[in-house]
Amino acid sequence: MAGPLLKVENVTKRFGGVVALDRVSISVDEGELVAIIGPNGSGKTTLFNVINGVYRPDEGRVYFRGVDVTDLPPYKRVEMGLARTFQIPRPWPGLTVRENVAVGAFFGRARARSVSEALEVADSVLDIVGLSGKADEVAARLTVVEKKLLELARALAMRPKLLLLDEIVAGMSPSDVEKVVDTIVRVRDEMGIAVVALVEHVIRAVRRAAERVIVLHQGRVIAEGAPDEVLSNPKVVEVYLGVTQ
Ligand SMILES: Nc1ncnc2c1ncn2[C@@H]1O[C@H](COP(=O)(O)OP(=O)(O)OP(=O)(O)O)[C@@H](O)[C@H]1O
Ligand SMILES: [Mg+2]
Repeated sequence: MAGPLLKVENVTKRFGGVVALDRVSISVDEGELVAIIGPNGSGKTTLFNVINGVYRPDEGRVYFRGVDVTDLPPYKRVEMGLARTFQIPRPWPGLTVRENVAVGAFFGRARARSVSEALEVADSVLDIVGLSGKADEVAARLTVVEKKLLELARALAMRPKLLLLDEIVAGMSPSDVEKVVDTIVRVRDEMGIAVVALVEHVIRAVRRAAERVIVLHQGRVIAEGAPDEVLSNPKVVEVYLGVTQ
């Protein structure tokens, strides 16, 4: 495939009088680890929903794997290899961890044709995220962090090309953040999947893993580049700390 894996071109999205996204253009290459950061209300979730097809932009186009997907519904994008996690994990509480992940294997880019195949996929992704030891546990009994890893495993069972993570480390302790971020990096390394993570405030995670950072503010991209460079950019510091210089 020539060109980037994902390309968002000049996207504008309005809600009534609110311009949630104002001519946003971004692109993501295969296997890249990108963080999208920005304060509350900057447009992060709206951008995610334009990428995965929940919203249609008022202007602009979205290309995935070289195909214009702007008018395709979310499930078609899932079949093309676009998976996401939700900020609040909602596993089937009565199913085991392995069964929860196996369900994911029936959706996505390479759908399992039998239960045994789905369970095999589940075991392999549970191994990658480090949850093999909990495979037979009922999902309701997992800790918050384990539920996040389960959510990640369910998305990986769809064998995506691009994984969108919504605030996956929000509210976690520093050691849990490290654990989850290291897992995400391992996923990328072992499965070659590109990852775009929405991060509101856990800048530590961004420094630790992102290869590129994109900063949104009031619906616009105000900075983009290597983490150290972007996070020390005065415009970005001002947006985050409210300091005028
Ligand atoms: N469905 C909607 N209807 C009306 N306004 C919306 C809707 N979704 C988002 N907005 C508005 O669009 C702007 C961007 O919101 P968005 O949720 O994308 O920001 P965000 O960066 O994800 O914020 P947060 O960090 O609070 O999750 C905000 O002004 C918000 O109030
Ligand atoms: Mg949001």
